Amino acid sequence: MTDPLAAGERIRVVTSTFERVRYREELVLRSPRLRALVEDLAPPVLFRGYLRIQSRVAQQIWARDIYDKHFDIDWYKINFNRIAVINLLCAGQQSPAYLEIGCRDNDCFDAIIAKDKIGVDPERGGTHRLTSDKFLSECGDKTFDVIFIDGLHTYEQVRRDIVNSLEHISTRGWIVLHDMFPRNWFEAHVPHIPEISNDWSGDVWKVGFELARSPDLDFRILKIDRGVGVLRVTKKNPDIPDLLSELRGKQFRYFYENVRHLPVLDYECGRAWIESCLRERSKVVEATSN
Ligand SMILES: C[S@@+](CC[C@H](N)C(=O)[O-])C[C@H]1O[C@@H](n2cnc3c(N)ncnc32)[C@H](O)[C@@H]1O
Repeated sequence: MTDPLAAGERIRVVTSTFERVRYREELVLRSPRLRALVEDLAPPVLFRGYLRIQSRVAQQIWARDIYDKHFDIDWYKINFNRIAVINLLCAGQQSPAYLEIGCRDNDCFDAIIAKDKIGVDPERGGTHRLTSDKFLSECGDKTFDVIFIDGLHTYEQVRRDIVNSLEHISTRGWIVLHDMFPRNWFEAHVPHIPEISNDWSGDVWKVGFELARSPDLDFRILKIDRGVGVLRVTKKNPDIPDLLSELRGKQFRYFYENVRHLPVLDYECGRAWIESCLRERSKVVEATSN
């Protein structure tokens, strides 16, 4: 029997039916109150059914954005993550000052070895209850040696976080970015579609194309833990190309088809690159102190 939901005609009809409610926050599908009610009242088997229906309906609503190609990567099978990278960068410096933008449950923040650390999050975790915009505009001339950007996962916000962070990065500094490698269209979709998946990388990937084209930055993406971007600052006031008009409206398909233009490395190569940069820097420091 053919799946009626897979038929093009049905998808078109269902999509247009839901088109009108797509932007309405009170849509039952998105209602946390209804979800909580079903969760409380329904036995687990019914709740699972409810979630399945929710996911099917969500797929119909966003049918226009669906792209069927994806990267078959299981991040949990690669035994290195963002924390390993940040600690490698911190360990390579004497008394590093660390800033984390977006901390949530402090899974990363608490695991970072730096003694001098600040975590900024408007909702929870870290040390400062602020947005990154507010914190970075109010932190005076404080500088950091490692800044981890993992707040709001939209291109515009992450771009702004990078530009603002560059004002507060030390001359030996590094910026680390999370969520640079979405695996499929819904992980990359803006806005987030929680009915389909909790894994959300947003369109942070877009800044990767800008950073890769900057003549003043040394940039790599490590293929671990949803894509960990590592940016070595090599020049004061670096130039970052603005590709907003080129990238506006681009979705996961663009990332999938152009990923070969990005400096993506596996963990071993990424680690070798970081270690060679750290060695190079310590030689410079030694030479200047002699
Ligand atoms: C993915 S979580 C961070 C996870 C954490 N860095 C880790 O590795 O365990 C994203 C967090 O960013 C926070 N956030 C959202 N918008 C933000 C903003 N404008 N500035 C700072 N943090 C923000 C959210 O409240 C959320 O807690």
